[in-house]
Amino acid sequence: MPPFALHNATAPIRLMRRRAGELGMVARGQLPQPVPARRQTIRRYSHSHSPKWRPVSVLDDWVAKEARPISLRQLMVFGRSLTESRLISSANYVRTELPTRIAHRIRDMQRLPYVVVTNPHISEVYDLYYNAFDTFRKVKEIKTLDDNERLCKTIRSMLKAHLTVIPKLAMGILECSGLMDAKELDKFMNTILRSRISRRVIAEQHLALTDTFHAHWFSPGAKLSESEFIGEVFLKCVAKDVVESCGKATRDIARRAYGSDVPMPEININGHLDASFPYILSHLEYIIGELLRNSVQAVVEKHQKQEDPGPPPPIEVTICESSQHVIIRISDRGGGIPQDVMPYLWSFSKGPASAQLLANLKQVPKMAATMQELQGVYDGQGRVAQSGKADDDYESGKTPGNSLAALSSRPPNLRLGMGLPLSRVYAEYWAGSLALHSLEGYGVDAFLQISKLGNKNEQLTTRATMDA
Ligand code: COI
Repeated sequence: MPPFALHNATAPIRLMRRRAGELGMVARGQLPQPVPARRQTIRRYSHSHSPKWRPVSVLDDWVAKEARPISLRQLMVFGRSLTESRLISSANYVRTELPTRIAHRIRDMQRLPYVVVTNPHISEVYDLYYNAFDTFRKVKEIKTLDDNERLCKTIRSMLKAHLTVIPKLAMGILECSGLMDAKELDKFMNTILRSRISRRVIAEQHLALTDTFHAHWFSPGAKLSESEFIGEVFLKCVAKDVVESCGKATRDIARRAYGSDVPMPEININGHLDASFPYILSHLEYIIGELLRNSVQAVVEKHQKQEDPGPPPPIEVTICESSQHVIIRISDRGGGIPQDVMPYLWSFSKGPASAQLLANLKQVPKMAATMQELQGVYDGQGRVAQSGKADDDYESGKTPGNSLAALSSRPPNLRLGMGLPLSRVYAEYWAGSLALHSLEGYGVDAFLQISKLGNKNEQLTTRATMDA
């Protein structure tokens, strides 16, 4: 037995079949394609205490490590009194945590049926992940600020390279609808998206802390404690303000889509108007933006069909603060959700509707899919450029200013069918929830519950969603 056995791309089909089996792939009437070299796992055969030879791989080593979840409160406490040694330990957390979390998702992908993992979009995501895993696992312990600078450079370029992951996954999953159990496919999507949010949070938080540290270092008079943000965490996210700004952006989108002469519903906000909590603003903007967009669209479209249209009925937003939660209810009178759509509302693979969605999408949309990403144009200099320093490949590059302007830049007819399910992934990630009640023929009530104390760990597993 050689010390290293490397399966190469010219291996005979028999060997490839065995490899597909090893990876848990199920070939469904397809000949396995040669596995590209970068996907190969170098197998080390080593003596263990057991008398048998036992194959292990680099990936196995990382899959065996547990992710170490964090809470918003930890992010705040850690970033509040930033010192060089804290920054270095943040760097080392990111250095080990990113490859661990990516390794888990690579293993999930290897367990998909062969016909799914070889879908071109999914396969591109696999390659991106393998490359990121391989890059981060090789980063040596961070000991100095210069080491940290190099790490930050790598993180920035990875964040940028991964901007297309969500549209790619969304396309891939629609194309694979029907090729594996729909529940399993959605569970896979939920897990991979939640994990991706988590990696971007820890990566972006570290970049933000590094920027803050340097800003403070070069102007020691600046008071860190007075900032409204600690890294990416917005300390006082006022629910009413977020609803207002998302409402404005949503109505702008609708005006562009339907024409400026079409009357828009008012968005009324009532309840606990002072409710505030620490949160990652872009996450909340994504969820509220999507919910309001659905409501405005439903109301406008229903209203257009009416013979005697007075002004469209308003959208009512109620904010309710309790000891642990802030609940935001968005009620519209847009006619409710059609019966045939209900079973697939939270699904990424969309069941029979997938074919129609795909027919409307000729290629992977050239845009980042989340508010967080639309906001961020990584220019290789700063953490996130505040204005549209263009990356020509992305719609976001054309976007001036803030994330809400970015929301408006999204083509109104772009439909991946993932706005609601992705919103729920965002809501659950910080231990919240999202539910919808449809009153057929009348309207929809959406309930978003936020865990307001920031003391809950990020939720990396999808049990809550999938059991619901
Ligand atoms: C992603 O965006 O999918 C990531 O995994 C980001 C990470 C590599 C920094």
